[in-house]
Amino acid sequence: MKIAISGKGGVGKTLVAGILARMFARDGFKVLAIDNDSAMNLSYTLGIDENTKDKIVPIKEMKSMIQERTLVKGAGPGVYNINPSVSDIPDRYKVSGPDGLQLLVLGGIEEPATGCLCPENALIRTLLYNLFIKRDEVVIVDFEAGIEHLGRGTAKGIDLMLVITEPSQKSLDLSNKIIELSKKLGIINIFLIANKIIDESQKEIINKKIQNWEVPLYHSIPFDPDIGKADLEGRSPFDYNPNSEGILSIKFLYEKLKKLKQELFDL
Ligand SMILES: Nc1ncnc2c1ncn2[C@@H]1O[C@H](COP(=O)(O)OP(=O)(O)O)[C@@H](O)[C@H]1O
Ligand SMILES: [Mg+2]
Repeated sequence: MKIAISGKGGVGKTLVAGILARMFARDGFKVLAIDNDSAMNLSYTLGIDENTKDKIVPIKEMKSMIQERTLVKGAGPGVYNINPSVSDIPDRYKVSGPDGLQLLVLGGIEEPATGCLCPENALIRTLLYNLFIKRDEVVIVDFEAGIEHLGRGTAKGIDLMLVITEPSQKSLDLSNKIIELSKKLGIINIFLIANKIIDESQKEIINKKIQNWEVPLYHSIPFDPDIGKADLEGRSPFDYNPNSEGILSIKFLYEKLKKLKQELFDL
């Protein structure tokens, strides 16, 4: 199963991606977590140990490897291979984390407007395609705020798009855009998840605001001070307090997704 996580900055994408990855892994699934956000902080939520973390080099920063892979022999500057060979990259550069899970840090995709980083982008796009289409693990991708960098071909391999929102209009607006784009890309299972919910009234307001959307509210996660405390200590909230309200709520989400996985693949 290939799960993509998106939403506005700060809504809890990395939290949901990291904790779901830990739960799948603890349950015995082979898990490959992918950090495709330029903040690159998924390793904290996963609880990767310090030594391993220090050794991680994001794929995006492997200049010579990228150059080598995207080089077109005999071509002049500015010409590069947009379909480089990447299938060995995940196994070569992934690192191990708790419960046997694996992490591959890609780094974010730069917007072309910020100066063309074409070879890097081409490599990461091809890599995402490879991860979604060719891998047999549970692949969980922590995306950048938007999903504009996904092409139709790449998105086809995504089984589940989890769109995370806070109780705020801005975050709902972006969620709506992501849902529309996801639909256009042909993604079928799109789920809206509210995070940092303080009380029932917030849930009611969200439900009212989205009543005309095709995608209902699939799950909501409460605001949980222990998640913030874990964050401040640089620890995984899953290790800090596995029984905190927020983590138990993500556990409930996990159980729903596991059931869905069975319906989609195992029956
Ligand atoms: N349910 C929650 N309760 C309390 N704090 C939360 C919750 N979800 C996320 N946070 C905090 O909000 C901040 C942003 O979360 P993060 O997962 O990094 O968001 P994103 O990846 O979308 O930018 C972090 O400091 C995190 O600890
Ligand atoms: Mg993040």
